[in-house]
Amino acid sequence: MRIKPKLKHEIKKSAEKNSLFGKYQITAAPITPDNGQRTPDLADAGRIFGFYKIYYIKIICPYLFKIDFFRQCVKEVKDYYFRKAKQEKYVARSVYKLSEIDAKHHIIRPRMRLLDLGASPGSWLQYTLEKTKEQSEIVCVDLKPPVFSPPGCVRWITGDIYEVFEGEAGVAIGFFDCVISDMAPNTTGIRMVDHAASASLCEKVLEISSRMLKPRGTVLYKIFQGSGFDAVYKQTRQLFETVKTLKPQSCRSESNEVYVLGLHRKIPANKD
Ligand SMILES: C[S@@+](CC[C@H](N)C(=O)[O-])C[C@H]1O[C@@H](n2cnc3c(N)ncnc32)[C@H](O)[C@@H]1O
Repeated sequence: MRIKPKLKHEIKKSAEKNSLFGKYQITAAPITPDNGQRTPDLADAGRIFGFYKIYYIKIICPYLFKIDFFRQCVKEVKDYYFRKAKQEKYVARSVYKLSEIDAKHHIIRPRMRLLDLGASPGSWLQYTLEKTKEQSEIVCVDLKPPVFSPPGCVRWITGDIYEVFEGEAGVAIGFFDCVISDMAPNTTGIRMVDHAASASLCEKVLEISSRMLKPRGTVLYKIFQGSGFDAVYKQTRQLFETVKTLKPQSCRSESNEVYVLGLHRKIPANKD
C-alpha cells in the first residue's frame, strides 16, 4: 500500500512544527525507508497515530477551550473555593463571599428577619441557618427552587423579584432587619448590556429595601462595576448612613463584581 505523498508531507511538516511536544513528539524521518514503496508496518501506524494526536492537541483542544462549558469545567477543577465548598458540603462557592463579609461586618445575627434575594441554589441560606442556629425567620426569593429542603424557619418564594413584592402579597411579606442579594442577570457577554441588567436588579433591591427594611436595617447586594454603578451607589448613600464597597477574596479575579454594603438605614422622613 502506497502512502499518499500529500499525507507524508503533512506528517513531516507537522512533526517538524510540533517537535516541542514532549511525549507527543514524532520523528521527522521519512515514513518508510524505501520512500513509501513497501507495505506500512505497525511502527508506521504508530507514527500516523502520533500525527493525529498532534492534530488533536494543536487544533481540537484550543477549539474546545473556546467553548464556555469546557472552560467552566477546567475553572471549577482548578478553583480553590469550588473544591472547598464541595468538601464542606455547601451547594455553591459563593458562601465564602458572604462568610468573609459577615466575619468583618457582623451582619447576620440570631433572632432577625432576613430577606435573601436570588437565593438559589442556597449556599447563603446554608450559612445564615448555621450562623443563626435556625433562630431567624428567613424569606428567600429566586426564579429557581432551592436544591435542598429548607427547615421550617425558611419561607421560599419561587418567582421574579420584579413581581413577588407587588400588591397585597408583597405587603404581607412584612419587614426585615437585613436584605441580602447575590442576584446576577443572565450574562450576554456584552458588557454594557450585562452592567445595565445588574444595575437594574440592584435598583429593584434598593426599592424593596426602602419599603421593607426596618430603620437602622442593613442591605448587602452584588453589582457589576461599570455603567450604572455610580447611580446605584448614590441611591444607596441616600438610604443608608454608612456605605462600603467590598471585594471578597473569594470573588474570581477576572470578575468585575463587587458587593455594596449599606449599614444603618436612615429613618424615613415623615410624609405628613
Ligand atoms: C449567583 S446565584 C445566587 C447564589 C446564592 N447566593 C447561593 O449562595 O447559593 C444568582 C441567582 O439570582 C437569581 N435571579 C436572577 N434574577 C432574578 C430575578 N429577577 N428574580 C429572582 N431571582 C433572580 C438567579 O436565578 C440565580 O439563582
